[in-house]
Amino acid sequence: MDKECAIILAAGEGKRMGSDLPKVLCEVLFEPMIEWVIRACKNAEISDLCTVLGYKSEVVKEFIGNHTKTVIQNERKGTAHAVMCAKYFLENHINDNVLICYADSPFLDSKTIKDALYTHKKTHASVTVITANLCDPTGYGRIVRTDGEISAIVEEKDATKSELNINEINSGAYWFCVKDLIDILEQIKPKNSQNEYYLTDSISLLLAKGKIASTHIADNPIVAMGANDRTSLLRLNQAYNKFLIEKFMQDGVEFLSTDGVLISPTVSIDKGTKILPGTILCGKTKIGSGCVIGPNSLIEDSVIGNNCKINATQIYKSEICNDVLVGPFCHIRPNSKIHHHVKIGDFVEVKNSELGAGTSVSHLTYVGDSDVGKNVNFGCGVVTINYDGVNKNRCKISNGAFIGCNTNLVAPVEIGENSYTAAGSTITKNVPPNALGIERTKQSNIAGFAERKLKNRKLKVEE
Ligand code: UD1
Ligand code: CA
Repeated sequence: MDKECAIILAAGEGKRMGSDLPKVLCEVLFEPMIEWVIRACKNAEISDLCTVLGYKSEVVKEFIGNHTKTVIQNERKGTAHAVMCAKYFLENHINDNVLICYADSPFLDSKTIKDALYTHKKTHASVTVITANLCDPTGYGRIVRTDGEISAIVEEKDATKSELNINEINSGAYWFCVKDLIDILEQIKPKNSQNEYYLTDSISLLLAKGKIASTHIADNPIVAMGANDRTSLLRLNQAYNKFLIEKFMQDGVEFLSTDGVLISPTVSIDKGTKILPGTILCGKTKIGSGCVIGPNSLIEDSVIGNNCKINATQIYKSEICNDVLVGPFCHIRPNSKIHHHVKIGDFVEVKNSELGAGTSVSHLTYVGDSDVGKNVNFGCGVVTINYDGVNKNRCKISNGAFIGCNTNLVAPVEIGENSYTAAGSTITKNVPPNALGIERTKQSNIAGFAERKLKNRKLKVEE
C-alpha cells in the first residue's frame, strides 16, 4: 500500500472519560487506544500517517513520537473539521485513497482495513464505511440504508425513533477517495443537535453528487467498538480480552478459568501452556509451550521458555529460559536472564542479574546486579549488597559455588568456582576457587544462663 495514507483523529478531550489524560491515551489491555490504531495502520502497510491532535497535543505527541505526522486542530468543532485541519496532508495524496479513523476505536485491525480497501476499489466508491452489526448500538451513528445501499449516517442524538432501532453502526473508519473528499469537505455544515461539523455527513453529500458510497461490514463486530467513557472502556477491555482468550484456546492454550486473566494483544503463548486465574500478561511477552503460568502472576515485556512454572510471581523485562521454576512470591526485575533448569523459590528478588543453568535460589534471597554461574546454590536468606548509597556494584559468583545461609555479599566481590561461604558471613573480600569464605566470631556458650533467666520469665501456659 505504498500510495495509500491515513488520518487518525485524536484531538478530542474525552470529558466523559473523567481522566487527566487525553481520551486517546486511555488504555485498553495496558496499551493506549491510539497505539492500537497506529499499529493497525502500520500492519496494513499504510506508510504515510497523519494524526490530528488538539487537547493536550504535546502529551499525545510525545507518546506517538515520530510514528506519524501530526497537525493541530485548535478548536474542536467536529470530525469533519478535524479532517479539514489535515487538508495539506490530503492535497499531497490527491490521487490516492485515505483511511480516516478515530483514535478512540482501538480494535480496527489491518485485515479489516485491507478488506475494506478492496471493497472500496472494487465498487469504485468515493467512500467506503466500515460498519458492524451490534446487539446494542447505543451511542453510535446508525447506518441508514435505502434499497439495501447506504444512504446516510445518522448520529444517535439526531436520530428518529425508527433510526434508533437500526443495529448497523458506523465504526468511525472509512476509506475515501481523496479528490472526492476534498470536493465536499467545505460543504459540510454544523447543522445538527451538537452544532458540529460531522464527517458522517460526507456520505449523503457524495451521494447527492452522484458518487458511489459503499460499506464494508466487519466480520467481527468488536472491530467497531469505541470508548467515550469509563463504562465503555471497561466493555472494550472485557470484549477484547475474551476475544484473545478464545483465540489462544483455539491455538491449544489451556485456561481452567478466565477469572482475573488479562492478556495484551502483543502477547504470544505457545500451545500446551496452562494459564491459571489471576494471570496478567502484557507488553511484548512471549510464553513458550508446556508452561504453567499463575495463579496470580504478572509478566510484562518478558520472554519465558518452554516447560516453566511461574507461580504467584511478577516478572518485568527479563528472559527466563526452558524448564525454570519461579515462585511462589518472587519478583524478577528488569534486565535479568535466568538460564535453563534454574529454581527460584519463595520470597526471592532478582534484579539486573544473570543466573546460570541449574542454579538454585530457593528461599528469601536478594540477587541484584550479579553474574551468577551454573549450578550455584544459594542458602536461605542470602543478600547481595549491591548499593553503597552512591554506586551500584556487581557480585560475581562462579560455577558450582555454595553460598551459605544468611551470607551477605558486599559488592564488588567475587566468589570463585566451587567455593563455599559459611552461613552468616558478611563477605567483603574475594573468595578464591575451591575455598571456604568464613567471617564470623567464634561461638561461646554461657553455662547455666537459662536457669537464671527462667526464674523471672513468665510462661504463657503452665508446663
Ligand atoms: C463518532 C461518529 C459516529 C460513530 C462513532 C464510532 C461522527 C460525527 N460520529 O461519534 O458515527 O459511530 O464515532 O465510535 O463522526 N475528534 C477530533 N476533533 C473533533 C472531534 C472529534 O479529533 O473536533 C476525534 C476524537 O478525538 C475521537 C474521534 O474524533 O477520537 C471521534 O469523536 P467522538 O466525539 O468520540 O465521536 P462519537 O460521538 O463517538
Ligand atoms: Ca467516540
